[in-house]
Amino acid sequence: MNAIQYQLGEVADRVEAVLDALLPAGGTLERPLNDAMRYAALGGGKRLRPFLVVAGARLFGTPDTRALRAAAAVEMIHCYSLVHDDLPAMDDDSLRRGRPTCHIAYGEATAILAGDGLLTHAFTVMADPATHPDGGVRADLVAGLAGAAGPLGMVAGQMMDMNVGFGPLDAARVQRLQALKTGALIAFAAEAGAILGQAGAADRAALAAYGRQLGAAFQIIDDVLDATGSAAKMGKAVGKDAEQGKATLVAALGLDPARAAAHEAADRAIAALDSFREPADPLRAIARFVIDRET
Ligand code: IPE
Ligand code: IPE
Ligand code: MG
Ligand code: MG
Ligand code: MG
Repeated sequence: MNAIQYQLGEVADRVEAVLDALLPAGGTLERPLNDAMRYAALGGGKRLRPFLVVAGARLFGTPDTRALRAAAAVEMIHCYSLVHDDLPAMDDDSLRRGRPTCHIAYGEATAILAGDGLLTHAFTVMADPATHPDGGVRADLVAGLAGAAGPLGMVAGQMMDMNVGFGPLDAARVQRLQALKTGALIAFAAEAGAILGQAGAADRAALAAYGRQLGAAFQIIDDVLDATGSAAKMGKAVGKDAEQGKATLVAALGLDPARAAAHEAADRAIAALDSFREPADPLRAIARFVIDRET
């Protein structure tokens, strides 16, 4: 394990503990909902988005305790998106993070509600004064997360992704689709550090630009790994994008040009960090990790 994988694992453990504390547990008639939310959010995942929040916030001296709450909120949104993405009506997947998907484990109705629950609970966490004492900061965090996740962000991207019936998309349209379905939330995760740190507009824009490019690289490599990777390493089925006729850069350009585009996006992500100098090294290392990953 190299240094960045170790740091990613460390943040993963800490955000896992925060998620565990923040998610409702037990109950009587509502118990399946709580169990399914916990199943979807705990015990797995690279926790890339939480890492971005924490590493970004550290650039401005923000205490990890605050950043980890914002990170947990972002991860709740991500986990909800995976639960719904895996549903039979969407990608129809039965393996996620090396385990049965939420709807396989709990049934479709409970999985839909678990997604709804994670989506909305994220905002309860973000809006809590424990995340940041300043109400303006909390409003910025809530608005940013809603914008990234909603119909001008991830949900729109997921809609485009489902419209495979329109036939193959050209590379520019694929890139726009991916900027929405994946890039928006990853960009917000990076920007959230600057919001928490009450950074200036230039720093905030630089982190958001880094996140947009990182998100592009990340989704292209997800598509490359769907074509070339192993289900055992990925913890999810592979080979499904081609089977389902998904609009990916691999489909639009072929494997090698897609890989090259991911490298270029990662280079642009790293270039966006220039003004932060050495303290941004973990964010630079993550950009390389995203390209080199097999999981
Ligand atoms: C999978 O995201 C969905 C995409 C946006 C490609 P991740 O690869 O971050 O999934 P986990 O959280 O590590 O399981
Ligand atoms: C999902 O993209 C992006 C989301 C917003 C959930 P994919 O459908 O490619 O993600 P995987 O491959 O199932 O993880
Ligand atoms: Mg999908
Ligand atoms: Mg999917
Ligand atoms: Mg995929």
